[in-house]
Amino acid sequence: MANIIAIANQKGGVGKTTTAVNLAASVAAAEKKVLLVDLDPQGNASSGLGLDKALFPDKNIYHVLIDELPIREAIYPTGLEFLKVCPSDNNLSGAEIELVQAIARELRLKNAFEELERSEGIKFDYIFIDCPPSLGLLTLNALTAANYYLIPLQCEYYAMEGLGQFLHTAELIRKGLNKKLQQLGIVLTMFDSRNNLSRQVVTEVKSHFKSTVFDTVIPRNVKLSESPSHGKPVLLYDISSTGSQSYLNLAQEVIRRLEGGDKAVEKIETKILTEEVISDELPEIPIEVLNDIGPTEKKGVEYGNP
Ligand SMILES: Nc1ncnc2c1ncn2[C@@H]1O[C@H](COP(=O)(O)OP(=O)(O)O)[C@@H](O)[C@H]1O
Ligand SMILES: [Mg+2]
Repeated sequence: MANIIAIANQKGGVGKTTTAVNLAASVAAAEKKVLLVDLDPQGNASSGLGLDKALFPDKNIYHVLIDELPIREAIYPTGLEFLKVCPSDNNLSGAEIELVQAIARELRLKNAFEELERSEGIKFDYIFIDCPPSLGLLTLNALTAANYYLIPLQCEYYAMEGLGQFLHTAELIRKGLNKKLQQLGIVLTMFDSRNNLSRQVVTEVKSHFKSTVFDTVIPRNVKLSESPSHGKPVLLYDISSTGSQSYLNLAQEVIRRLEGGDKAVEKIETKILTEEVISDELPEIPIEVLNDIGPTEKKGVEYGNP
């Protein structure tokens, strides 16, 4: 069974897509079979890997979610032998609305992965999901299908803003839809060593979240922002860059956390979902978001209400 990891944070511009593409590529460089699922309608992960969305108008993640196309028919090769991608589609923004009417709409991606697991043919060691910047139905599908979520946090003034809300939503999903869901960790992104604020954020986040935070901090590095326009993960664009090296280090940490035996996994400290963090800003919003979606066809599914 693959390790399925959702890269999520409802804030935009924090480094989700950069992390999804380059972590997936770096894990693939360790000869793990990796699938990257682009669940953001913007499709930056797809284009960042050199996929032209126009080439796959009938078979992409949109058709997997809406038409229940088997995901194996929507998987394409990349410049790395061990990395495949299931690309996004502009129509995906409409999928969020179309899915509202659909039966078992929060289970579409989970069902797709289960079918992939059962079917003959390609099997993956790791599946990474690049989530959109919202807590809507697409992210709900990702967190319902995943075993783990990884949160990129930008080394910025409001780095932790909204984090309590995200963790609370993840906890609701864990209690209701997906008992297997665990936090894999927090990765700090766009670190600028010349900037005091950046250093303060690292200190504060590490003191708050302890070993949940990956040791690897991703620096601000121009190669990371240039490589998508060349349709390549950074390790195929400039392997010696600090951006490339840091994602390779992060990949090692992720593999260690997931494959390094029970001890390493224990260290992940899922207990980080502390009351302290959550109640800080116990938000109405995610509950409303989930309620807005309305009751589901599938009986017995509750969003964390005992
Ligand atoms: N470590 C980094 N160094 C330099 N630029 C980065 C870095 N991480 C992300 N960026 C740039 O910041 C912008 C937002 O990053 P992105 O990964 O798309 O965020 P998100 O997916 O969370 O919206 C992009 O233009 C990206 O190229
Ligand atoms: Mg993105």
